[in-house]
Amino acid sequence: MTPSQKINIGLLGYGTVGSNVYGLLESQAGEIEKATGASISISRIMVRDPSLPRAGAPSELFTGNFDDILSDAGISIIVELIGGVEPAFDYVTAALEQGKAVITANKQLLSRQGFYLFRLAQDKKTQIRFEASVAGAIPVIKVLRESMVAAGLKSIYGIVNGTTNFILTEMSRTGVRYEDALARAQEWGYAEADPGEDISGKDAAAKMAILASIAFHTSVGLEDVTCAGIENVSRRDIAYARELGLTVKLLGVARLYDDRINVRVYPALIKQDHPLASVSGAYNAVFLKGAAIDEIMLSGPGAGGTETASAVVSDIISAVARRESPGFLEYPVAYRNLDFFPDEEVVSTFYLRLEVEDEPGVLAAIASAFGKHGVSIESVIQKGRGARAELVMVFHPVKESRFAAAIKEAGGLEVVKSTPRPIRVEGSHDDGQ
Ligand SMILES: NC(=O)c1ccc[n+]([C@@H]2O[C@H](COP(=O)([O-])OP(=O)(O)OC[C@H]3O[C@@H](n4cnc5c(N)ncnc54)[C@H](OP(=O)(O)O)[C@@H]3O)[C@@H](O)[C@H]2O)c1
Repeated sequence: MTPSQKINIGLLGYGTVGSNVYGLLESQAGEIEKATGASISISRIMVRDPSLPRAGAPSELFTGNFDDILSDAGISIIVELIGGVEPAFDYVTAALEQGKAVITANKQLLSRQGFYLFRLAQDKKTQIRFEASVAGAIPVIKVLRESMVAAGLKSIYGIVNGTTNFILTEMSRTGVRYEDALARAQEWGYAEADPGEDISGKDAAAKMAILASIAFHTSVGLEDVTCAGIENVSRRDIAYARELGLTVKLLGVARLYDDRINVRVYPALIKQDHPLASVSGAYNAVFLKGAAIDEIMLSGPGAGGTETASAVVSDIISAVARRESPGFLEYPVAYRNLDFFPDEEVVSTFYLRLEVEDEPGVLAAIASAFGKHGVSIESVIQKGRGARAELVMVFHPVKESRFAAAIKEAGGLEVVKSTPRPIRVEGSHDDGQ
């Protein structure tokens, strides 16, 4: 029997994910060696304070100095699990410059510097892998890079933030207000003490930037993704949506319009029988549509120490398997530079709840305000609320610029007593795909 080749890894970060990567590599060492023919071990670990006692790994592996890892010629793979842009960017850049392979779970870094790092890896004929940066344990990057090359992908819909999905699921399931669902998410460990990035849609936007870049082979950065969060989703909207057979999700949507793309994150209503509607709690899902594949959905846990570590370890195994002759799959470089399709030109279907004076002629006035801009109402439900009434409307698909103008006009009518906050309805019309 040929002796196994020994692969040494330098691990940056020993927190929730890093410690689980260490644990998984230890506990699965036998299986991994049989599968890869290599004995893979972590030979150095960088943390902020190496003097602190750490469970799992022996204390002599820890260092607070990146150069201890970079200058170790025996280390061929660096796994970055520090998070944030700096100093992770400097460390990853230095590792790639030296031809070391890099595995990272860092969506903040990739959504800002991905294009640069991808090119650097290609120039240095080494690899950068980042499965765990989007949708935790779900192997979506691998599927996009390897299995979808000829799929003719046209759109991607993602539920890629577990915190917001948990909150919206709780609001739908129990009828609680947004604030109470958020408090519950924090109490049960599904939301950070500072949940700003999740709630505002920014975390999902970073992940959609990465997914869209890989799926459409173009450069999409965080700044190219328009995003709206879930702060204004009310339980009344959720209740009315249910009456209409719809459910609310924070969706990331990336679409190709001929040779232009549009990538956005927003709360959206989808039909209750759509596969994405059943993705609940902290789960994530990515729904792919393409000419040759029709529709494919991947779903599973979107975060968590062991789940994310499993994606990191699978990247380590792929990097080891391909280390002798990295080919095109190792270079996720965008090879075309697509323009962006403007948000205002996208054709969407909208849902809108308006509080209005309960008097004759109100509906006609509102319909006329929308009609002036070529926006027509598909269905309307009127609910009495004392001296006021609520109109719950769904519109025919319309160019977003027209709808914005109509909303402005309708919102200015004296009979309208609430700020119009429309929600897009997805999957209900042919979006040109
Ligand atoms: N947690 C999840 O479920 C999850 C899911 C998907 C992706 N991710 C991504 O995985 C990465 C790691 O997340 P995590 O939850 O494991 O983070 P974490 O628990 O906060 O751990 C971060 C680790 O990095 C070390 N570190 C931070 N800044 C450092 C610096 N400047 N120099 C050296 N070491 C530094 C910390 O050292 P000390 O221990 O000394 O503080 C700690 O060991 C992030 O990119 C995150 O977005 C996490």
